[in-house]
Amino acid sequence: MTPSTDPTPIPYLRLQPEYDALRADWFARIDEAGANGAFILGPEVEAFEREAAAYLGARHAIGVANGTEALVLSLRALDIGPGDEVITTPFTFYASAEAISLVGATPVFVDIDERSFNLDPAAVEAAIRPATRAILPVHLFGHPADMDALAALAARHDLKLIEDAAQAFGARHHGRPVGALGDCGCFSFYPTKVLGCYGDGGLICTNDKGVHERLLRLRNHGAIAPFLHAEVGYNSRLDAIQAALLRLKLRNLDKAVAERQRIARRYDQGLADCDAIPPTAPADGGHAYNLYTLRHPRRDALRERLNAQRIGNSQCYPEPLHLQAVHAGLGYRPGELPVVERLCKETLSLPIFPGLRNDEIDRICALVRSA
Ligand SMILES: Cc1ncc(COP(=O)(O)O)c(C=O)c1O
Repeated sequence: MTPSTDPTPIPYLRLQPEYDALRADWFARIDEAGANGAFILGPEVEAFEREAAAYLGARHAIGVANGTEALVLSLRALDIGPGDEVITTPFTFYASAEAISLVGATPVFVDIDERSFNLDPAAVEAAIRPATRAILPVHLFGHPADMDALAALAARHDLKLIEDAAQAFGARHHGRPVGALGDCGCFSFYPTKVLGCYGDGGLICTNDKGVHERLLRLRNHGAIAPFLHAEVGYNSRLDAIQAALLRLKLRNLDKAVAERQRIARRYDQGLADCDAIPPTAPADGGHAYNLYTLRHPRRDALRERLNAQRIGNSQCYPEPLHLQAVHAGLGYRPGELPVVERLCKETLSLPIFPGLRNDEIDRICALVRSA
């Protein structure tokens, strides 16, 4: 393949065609919600919760305002707070760690596996101390974390396991959807996600009845009945307009994930035998490819080339969380977590979304190969 001189931009994400396809059905459902006057929670949200729980193989699913609050509410529902430590990954969007800080607990960052970009279970085990209360793995970019090893650790040390599945709706670990594999699983429906809505939204799954009841309370001001409050909670509710859209998109989710997997395979083939290292995937499939993130020894030069050709890309993530200013008080030093620190200099995410055309993928591959 030779690099193309085609100047047509390729966006990082193209949401418009999907919006156009869903618009009529979605608007009809919004009209129904309008006619019923049920805009927040209500029948549409309950129906989505039932359908999402069935898809994920969870006993309960609770719609909330966004993925960040899905994490915060889960931590609260599991009684994690001041004085507690939660082990998590430094290679994720900040919200994973922010939620831990927001409940007054301390995030403990450990190094990651360079192939999966996810928590390294051996590093997690080494960080377990008396104050450790939970492990919070992230299924980063849609790649399931090593849940077998992490669940075994959690069981052995009596720790809670909270999945940050914000980027991984539709990802599977040994055939089972992620999100229902620990004590709580947290999803974001931010528009760029595999299952995204057209606004903010989030979901929590749990198989525990008591945790479910606590979450229902926490998302609605800690209320146990109208105007009666048992504890300090949140205003963190999903609305009917987003739930209506999510129900429509859930029907086609498997197709959308399969399409992402097909695009990833084409990238993998197009990038074989060059300096780029394509992302790994579990041998039994299951990667949902919310992002397609490769490694490259000259990442910054590659990025400049893509930018010059107006090909969308993203540096996820430029700085590991343990070294970010917000965590200065935790005392981490450069060099302490070498794998993630190196990966932050090597990783680059390429466009991936249902509808990305073969000619576009091939053009991107040719450009990467020529770098
Ligand atoms: C890994 C991860 N966790 C949490 C979140 C937070 O989700 P939200 O933006 O819906 O609050 C995101 C969203 O970008 C994410 O990627």
